[in-house]
Amino acid sequence: MYLSFPPVPAAGNSELLAAAFAEGARRAGHDVTEVSLKGKQIGFCRGCFACQKSGRCVIDDDARAICDAAREADVLVFASPVYYYSISGQLKTLLDRLNPLFSADYRFREVYFLSSAAEDSEEARDYPRVAVRGWTDCFERARLAGCVFCGGVSAPGEAAGRSEIADARAMGEAL
Ligand SMILES: Cc1cc2nc3c(=O)[nH]c(=O)nc-3n(C[C@H](O)[C@H](O)[C@H](O)COP(=O)(O)O)c2cc1C
Repeated sequence: MYLSFPPVPAAGNSELLAAAFAEGARRAGHDVTEVSLKGKQIGFCRGCFACQKSGRCVIDDDARAICDAAREADVLVFASPVYYYSISGQLKTLLDRLNPLFSADYRFREVYFLSSAAEDSEEARDYPRVAVRGWTDCFERARLAGCVFCGGVSAPGEAAGRSEIADARAMGEAL
C-alpha cells in the first residue's frame, strides 16, 4: 500500500485524512507505506515517453523511488488539498511522473482519493475528483474505489475532529 500527500504544513487537513486512512488500514492488518511530498524533488514530466520502453523515468529525482513503491502497492491512496477547484500542482506533477506505471505490470487495483477544501461545495468536492478519476481510468485494471471530501476547512488542522476523519479511517479499515 502506498500513500501520498502534498507538502502542506504539519497536520494539514489532507494530511489528517491520509493519516486516518492509514490508521484504519493498519488496524485491519495491512502494511502501509506513507509517502509525503514534503521536501521531495519532483520535476515535471518531459513527455519523452522513454519510460514506456525502459520502465524508468529519465529524470533522476525523488519520483523514481515513489514510482517503484507505487508499482508494488496493492492500493494507492492520494490525498490533496483542493487548489483552484482541482488537485494541488504537487500531486498532479507526481501523477504525471508515475507514467512509467502505464506500461508496467502494476499491482494496484484500487485507488482512493482524500481531499480537503475551504468551501463545502459540490464543485470543490467533484472537480478535483475528475482529475484523479481521469488518471485512474488510464489504468485499465484499476478503479477509483472511494473518496472522502472534507469541506469547510481552511487553517491547517481544522479538519481534526470532523466526521470525515472518521470516514477516512473507516475506509482504510474496510480495505
Ligand atoms: C493555492 C490555493 C488554492 C486554493 N483553492 C481552493 C479552491 O479552489 N476551493 C476551496 O474550497 N479551497 C481552496 N483552497 C483552500 C484549501 O483547499 C484548504 O485550506 C484546505 O483545507 C487545505 O488543506 P491542507 O491543510 O491539507 O493544505 C486553496 C488554497 C490554496 C493555498
